[in-house]
Amino acid sequence: MSALLYRNARLLQIDPKRSCINVIAPACLIVEHGLLRFVGPSSELPRSQARALPSIDLKQQLVTPALIDCHTHAVFARHRAAEFALRLGGASYIDIAKAGGGIMQTVSQTAKASVPELVKQTLPRLLALRAEGVRGIEIKSGYGLDFDAEKRMLLAATAAAKKANLRVQRTYLALHALPDSSKAPAQRAAFVHRVCSDWLPRLHALGLVDAVDAFMESIAFRSDEVHALFSAARQLKIPVKLHAEQLSNSNGAALAAQFCALSADHLEYLQADGIRAMRAANMTAVLLPGAFYCLREKKRPPVAALRKAGIPIAVSTDLNPGTSPMTSIRLAMHMACTLFGLTVAEAICGVTCHAAAALGWKTLGQLAPGLAADALVWPIEDPAEIVYWLGSAASPRSLNEHES
Ligand code: NIG
Ligand code: FE
Repeated sequence: MSALLYRNARLLQIDPKRSCINVIAPACLIVEHGLLRFVGPSSELPRSQARALPSIDLKQQLVTPALIDCHTHAVFARHRAAEFALRLGGASYIDIAKAGGGIMQTVSQTAKASVPELVKQTLPRLLALRAEGVRGIEIKSGYGLDFDAEKRMLLAATAAAKKANLRVQRTYLALHALPDSSKAPAQRAAFVHRVCSDWLPRLHALGLVDAVDAFMESIAFRSDEVHALFSAARQLKIPVKLHAEQLSNSNGAALAAQFCALSADHLEYLQADGIRAMRAANMTAVLLPGAFYCLREKKRPPVAALRKAGIPIAVSTDLNPGTSPMTSIRLAMHMACTLFGLTVAEAICGVTCHAAAALGWKTLGQLAPGLAADALVWPIEDPAEIVYWLGSAASPRSLNEHES
């Protein structure tokens, strides 16, 4: 397709360094072969170029970068509504996990599902995110716990994202829970060894692994086990990230920093030394208010200290059947503001430029000449409306779906 001029836009400019936003109007964009050739105030548009181009009037609608949901467990079978009811009755997430429920329940349900079945169950969740403006997503495995089931999850993530027309990062969540057959110390060590030296290289050789993740926590995996996994990932040059300091401070963020992880995620119990390590390793902090809300946590992530350290803060749904059955990135943004104290600008940066950084997607999450024209057009007045509405709200369309 030849070049096209989009004029009369209100352009949301994002400053990733300061996590600030600013609206420029009237603004224009020139798109050629899917890339932005010009983006900025109409007054700066080179007249000679613009006059010759076919143009579309955006009628003062707001243009933003496409949204990115950078931490999801979107592929799983069935649901855990009964666990929700148990938690309302007073049972804790940890109690339920120790009694063999929680993640292990989804593991047994997911084990029975074929790839087409997983795709069928995942697709509506991805389409719900897409309807809100998500165009890029990270999807983790981790409910398989054996080679074949993890492979099915990663294949389903690939296929479901393709069907939903979403860019995807597929993350092998290699250490999420221990299979029941591996609870004894020797079996546990054998499981971690198999994950690192057999399943990870094989899944990677199949082209199914873009990143590696683990759950480091008292009810999940220890630092020596995560260290072994991250060392194996480093050998294969696969980027890593970590579920860290969600339910306690286990010094996961500092371990992740040793491996120059893309991000540490959750972080409710993160402390000063973890923040220093993350800063030094240029990591992104991914906040997941849906899990905080569903688990009725009291301890908030240290947002003021993250801000002060200049660590980019991303926001994500953590879409999963247990702790965050949330298919709304806009609700995650709203909760990040109301529960964690983010500003509107921080919430918007958290699902655009900082979410892209959490995935190592260097050229996404912002609009600038030479970058992909991955933009949304919103029929709204104020950028704060992206965050403010609860429930059904004006939906965005992709820039290239916009006719006039
Ligand atoms: O990110 N923390 C571990 N994993 C998920 C929960 C998974 C589940 O409960 O099914 C999370 O919250
Ligand atoms: Fe998670």
